[in-house]
Amino acid sequence: MAYRPQTKRFLAITGSSIPLIQAPMANSNDSALVIAVAQTGALGSLPAATSSLEKLEQEMALLHAYGIASYNLNFFCHTAPANNPEALQRWRNCLQPYYAQFNLGQPEVSSAPARESFNLSMAQLVNRYRPKVVSFHFGLPVPELLSQVKQAGAIVISSATTVAEAIWLESHGADLIVAQGLEAGGHRGHFLSGDLSLQLGLFALLPQIVQAVKIPVIAAGGIASAAEVEAAMQLGAAAVQVGTAFLRASEATTSLVHRQALMQYVDGHGSTALTNVFTGRPARGIVNRLMHEQGPLSANLPDFPLASNAVTPIRLAAESAGSGDFSALWAGQNPSGCLALSAAQIVQRLIPN
Ligand SMILES: Cc1cc2nc3c(=O)[nH]c(=O)nc-3n(C[C@H](O)[C@H](O)[C@H](O)COP(=O)(O)O)c2cc1C
Repeated sequence: MAYRPQTKRFLAITGSSIPLIQAPMANSNDSALVIAVAQTGALGSLPAATSSLEKLEQEMALLHAYGIASYNLNFFCHTAPANNPEALQRWRNCLQPYYAQFNLGQPEVSSAPARESFNLSMAQLVNRYRPKVVSFHFGLPVPELLSQVKQAGAIVISSATTVAEAIWLESHGADLIVAQGLEAGGHRGHFLSGDLSLQLGLFALLPQIVQAVKIPVIAAGGIASAAEVEAAMQLGAAAVQVGTAFLRASEATTSLVHRQALMQYVDGHGSTALTNVFTGRPARGIVNRLMHEQGPLSANLPDFPLASNAVTPIRLAAESAGSGDFSALWAGQNPSGCLALSAAQIVQRLIPN
């Protein structure tokens, strides 16, 4: 495939030879997938949202030890949650029947956020390891932190779910934009409005964003084959970002219950929905018991990401019995490329001739 100028620009600034980003997938990938993807010439992403700082540093040190020169380090940059004991108690009351079912009594629930927002220590880590690319979900960090990332020489990416968000990101310093269609697995990246009726499918969103901004646009959401990559490029994408297709890769850290649910989903059993019951923010996952009984969208939740702590004891008890009924089974609307293969084979299937 002959590359257009925007794609050539993407390849030059990210140091990749294939216009494909393996999406960062908190809890489902670490450095092993990043290394395997980078060795194909595509751009691997290391998610930071659920890692401790120590673990993150170990993972980055590993990437450097393997000589991976280009990778994307991904952070969440949400507003810190309000301390709201009443909302937490309301959510605990909703979960009480499950605590009882698993004989958990009144379990201790940590008040520490299960997902960290980008902060000064993380900016210092960026400065020390100087990843080629740094991406953010939920907008951009405050200007003082963003300028530290830029001073470390990183290319900055963030996700837009509407044209207004894309314009905002371009004018606030993003170098590249991910157009995240409604098909995408995992958390919606919206940050200007929580109104889900504003969210668009990829092929409605992508050409409008391409029209509205000058910087290269990366298409994400439901891309699972070379034909879909080609279609996104035809609509003006400089590159694509693919998550769900990598979830069953041998190098991914996807849990057993998640892999089992994905296998059934690929075989035509099950469907996805947007849900906030696992974290407090809408994300797309395979419908399971908690989503079905408490959501998929609930008004009885503390702020993101505090909802997850109260679910954790139930999730752990269910998972130890082999059940994913209470696990966040993130997946996009198109499972057709989500196969149990090596990352290199998955990349191969995504490259147009
Ligand atoms: C399991 C899973 C975890 C995800 N975690 C993150 C994350 O940590 N950070 C992020 O920016 N996006 C995350 N995403 C969203 C992806 O960046 C991307 O928008 C999405 O995977 C694209 O759609 P697809 O899954 O249909 O390919 C996640 C997606 C999945 C499926």
